[in-house]
Amino acid sequence: MRLRTRLLVLSVSTVAVIVTALFALHLDSLTRTWLETTVDRSNIAGNQIQSLIRLRIAATQTSPGTSLAQIKHNWNRTVAGDKDLATMLVEQAAIPSGAIVEINVVSEDGRVLLSSVPTREGQAAFPHETLASVRDAGPITRLTAIIASSTDYETRIPLGIADQPKPVFEIQMLVSPILLRDKIMPDLEGTALVSLLGLFAAAGLAGLSTHLALRPIRRIGQAIDTLAAGRPLGLSFQPAGSEDREVAAVEYKLSLLGEKMQGARRDAIGTLVRTVAHEIKNPLNAISLRLEALRMRIADEIPEAEGEVDLVSNEVQRLDRVVRTFLDLNQPMELDIREFDPEELAATVIETMRPAATQSQVELHLTKPVKAFTVQADRGLIEQGLLNLVNNAIQAMQTGGMVKTSVAFVNGNCEIVVSDNGPGMPAKVLERIFEPYFTTKSTGSGIGLAFTKRSMDLHYGQITVESAPGAGTTMTLSFPALRDRA
Ligand SMILES: Nc1ncnc2c1ncn2[C@@H]1O[C@H](COP(=O)(O)OP(=O)(O)OP(=O)(O)O)[C@@H](O)[C@H]1O
Ligand SMILES: [Mg+2]
Repeated sequence: MRLRTRLLVLSVSTVAVIVTALFALHLDSLTRTWLETTVDRSNIAGNQIQSLIRLRIAATQTSPGTSLAQIKHNWNRTVAGDKDLATMLVEQAAIPSGAIVEINVVSEDGRVLLSSVPTREGQAAFPHETLASVRDAGPITRLTAIIASSTDYETRIPLGIADQPKPVFEIQMLVSPILLRDKIMPDLEGTALVSLLGLFAAAGLAGLSTHLALRPIRRIGQAIDTLAAGRPLGLSFQPAGSEDREVAAVEYKLSLLGEKMQGARRDAIGTLVRTVAHEIKNPLNAISLRLEALRMRIADEIPEAEGEVDLVSNEVQRLDRVVRTFLDLNQPMELDIREFDPEELAATVIETMRPAATQSQVELHLTKPVKAFTVQADRGLIEQGLLNLVNNAIQAMQTGGMVKTSVAFVNGNCEIVVSDNGPGMPAKVLERIFEPYFTTKSTGSGIGLAFTKRSMDLHYGQITVESAPGAGTTMTLSFPALRDRA
């Protein structure tokens, strides 16, 4: 079972147990209260009837010397024929708060002498379980006696002659559990509804609190996944984002680990790049020398191929400069300064990047300068520098967009602006983008912008960035158009 489900089940069942216990307590107190009230009501009814019977008997004259049997006979006759008493039985049985269904006056021989239900008169009065015994029983017995039973309970009040062991009459009040149930039910239904609502609210709250409690763990899990996939943690993971000290400590350590891993990755890439550059440098030198030899032979034998050789030679030189840039980004480097049209250079870069742009459904757009102009610079370095910008802009927009490039002459400087409507960069990324080997891409090497920056430094120019999350990115290259002004 998932941790979240386990926590949820645990908290909901705890609440369920509490709610059930409270409900049971309430039910018990409810039945006890009703039983007590009913016993009291039965006693009150019985006592009133008893008083009236005593009054009637006192009114009958009994001459001294009358036998006991004669006295009992007289009493029976008085009670059986009393209309007021019969009315009183019916009235008392009808009092709605009592749950009494029947009141009988039972004679010594166990027969009904007078009843609130006239058809019962003359019949045998069967004994029932007493209401007081139900009231004094344990909670379970008490509850089943009311909920599950359908036989009536009784309360009896005796009435007899002094010094005689057996009473002459018994007043029997029968109470129906069905009527009692009817009285308890509305209250019970209300309580059940409140309990159920409470249970649902508790389940909702439990769900919410487990969700909140597990959020840091989820975040940590995602961060570990990111690290395991070899990606930088980036900004989605902010250490100490949790108020919980233990969780904050784990998050902090995780972010340190992430930085260490990125550092190790950067070192590895740096070493790799330097090694590769070193390995390429010597063959490139050899190719250069051979090309010069070839050029001399071609000049005599196939002069029309000279252009081709020039082209290859230029590309080799560009590659050589790129390689040398990475041998040591800080070493001074000799530039190959020539005059060229920056607009034509930008158009070349755009054409080079078009296939990649088409694949990512990105539109490329070029704005020409108001008036054409030329610059004196190392064309290879500027071209590669600009290519890196356009490449980044395309890569930033996975789902299509627009990359605008413009070339302009501003205050003696050549300004090339590349702007995209991609996701932009948060401040934490922005402050590091020119660091060699800094990247947020799983397949990036973090060399692009470091190279472009170096290319601008070598030209006494600068690169500026404007970027914010959701607002796209604009990068501007600016360098003196004429070399001798620098
Ligand atoms: N146009 C852009 N929009 C959003 N983020 C960018 C943009 N340009 C650069 N970045 C961010 O700057 C980081 C560094 O860019 P850089 O070009 O130096 O390296 P890279 O593109 O990651 O790898 P490489 O260029 O070596 O393949 C990128 O990983 C990316 O996070
Ligand atoms: Mg790049």
